[in-house]
Amino acid sequence: MSIMLMKILLSLIFLLSVLQNSDGQFEDYCVADEQTPDDQMVGAMNWACDNGANCSAIQENQACYLPNTLKDHASYAFNSYYQNMKHNGASCYFNSAAILSGLNPSHDSCKFEYIP
Ligand SMILES: *[C@@H]1O[C@H](CO)[C@@H](O)[C@H](O)[C@H]1NC(C)=O
Repeated sequence: MSIMLMKILLSLIFLLSVLQNSDGQFEDYCVADEQTPDDQMVGAMNWACDNGANCSAIQENQACYLPNTLKDHASYAFNSYYQNMKHNGASCYFNSAAILSGLNPSHDSCKFEYIP
């Protein structure tokens, strides 16, 4: 096997191990793509909240209100929608406002849901 191929394989194995949690399971979170223009992001977030996401945690004084940024709130809404709906065929797309991530965005008391 060539050295080059070996290096590629090793980095792939490394990447896979980074994306796996301790149970050896891949966690997929649906988060906001920060390249999305604000107006599109707001529209997509409101759509998610109206169509199955549980957006109560991003309301004022709730666990995921802070940091109070559009990107953080949209990420919470997208992920909630995606986790609730993914087994019914929903995808993490939102007119390209969202991307899948292997990293758990939870912080402090703000827990991003993950449904295996
Ligand atoms: C929505 O989320 C809140 C907290 O984040 C939780 O207390 C509540 O039970 C959830 N509602 C539903 C319908 O799952």
